[in-house]
Amino acid sequence: MLSNIELMQNVKSLKEISVEDQRVLIRVDFNVPMDAHHNITDDNRIKEALHTINYCIDNNAKSIILVTHLGRPKGDNKAEFSLKYIVKRVSRLLGKDVEFVEDFISQKEQINSANGGKVFLLENIRFFEGETKNDETLSKELASLCDIFVNDAFGTSHRAHSSTVGITQFVKTKVAGFLLKREIDAFSKALFKPVKPICLVVGGAKVSSKITLLNNILPKVDKIIIGGAMSNTFLKAVGYDMQDSLIEDEYVVEAQTILENAKQAKVNVYLPVDVVITDDIEHPIDVKIVPSQDVLQGFKAVDIGPATVKLFEEAIGMSNTIVWNGPMGIFEIDKFSKGTFRIAHAIADTYAYSIVGGGDTANAADKAGEKENISFISTGGGASLELLEGKVLPGFENLEKLD
Ligand code: 3PG
Repeated sequence: MLSNIELMQNVKSLKEISVEDQRVLIRVDFNVPMDAHHNITDDNRIKEALHTINYCIDNNAKSIILVTHLGRPKGDNKAEFSLKYIVKRVSRLLGKDVEFVEDFISQKEQINSANGGKVFLLENIRFFEGETKNDETLSKELASLCDIFVNDAFGTSHRAHSSTVGITQFVKTKVAGFLLKREIDAFSKALFKPVKPICLVVGGAKVSSKITLLNNILPKVDKIIIGGAMSNTFLKAVGYDMQDSLIEDEYVVEAQTILENAKQAKVNVYLPVDVVITDDIEHPIDVKIVPSQDVLQGFKAVDIGPATVKLFEEAIGMSNTIVWNGPMGIFEIDKFSKGTFRIAHAIADTYAYSIVGGGDTANAADKAGEKENISFISTGGGASLELLEGKVLPGFENLEKLD
């Protein structure tokens, strides 16, 4: 029986079909971060989709219709989430005019009569209430724009929405784009056929959001490094008083079980041996480094300490495959960013195959200046988390399978 990752790898890609003279609708994930003036602050997701778009242009598609969401407008036409702010960047990166379509339903004829590889970008699909409800009428409307559906929105492939899943019911030819393929191949290399030893580096605020991941991945890895605020709950589970640190009390027993299961499976778990503590996160007056068992009254742990960095560096350095998901501390605040950045450098300095989950972790690797030195950085935050949890992502399920 195929594993979940193999099932997802088994989908047909754009390469296996002909797009010549066809109307191709590509679901992309252009949910990019912007500043208050609508300037795109990271266009990586757009750049990663260019391969698929260019392939359709180069192979004489009749027209290319790009569909994406931006933010969570919840079915309202909210100006701040309009894609009119990103159409210029898409056009510049593509080196080709991209026509912005404000209302694809009333402009359907114009889209359907286009040719010569014309590229359209539809307004934010989440302006339609039906999108997140996987509404059949909206799915049919989208399907009426194309002969071929290409899903290249890895970052949104964990959502069963009209433009990611619903549309597949009404289009005959539906395949994966090159980014979707790259992502699934990278995760397969790290999890399904890893070069051992394999090390999971996990962090972030909450244990609760990583429990499924830890339980799923435990049998596959040789060591687990735990940092970030979630390590506080583990440190409490081994008996330390973490004082005012962020703790999920209801997960202490769960953390104990994970440590016990790891021991049984002979998986080494590395917890912080020292931590950076502060009296106040927003306005820190007092910042100290203390052993993990000596957190002062009224203080909270906000980053891993230098001894922990050394310990984690050693464990990372002896690995041949590394999967990193979640920062080691509150890296958005300079004073508490050292641990996360040092771990990013440690991963980048190895010869291991390294894969970094999207969202915060990708941002941390980028801020550390190590984006180029990591083997693969995922474009999906929630999507990569669900992959690591062992789920089949809905965005892959209805695509055509390889023979
Ligand atoms: C993301 O940024 O993780 C994706 O674009 C999905 O966005 P969502 O969490 O709003 O569905």
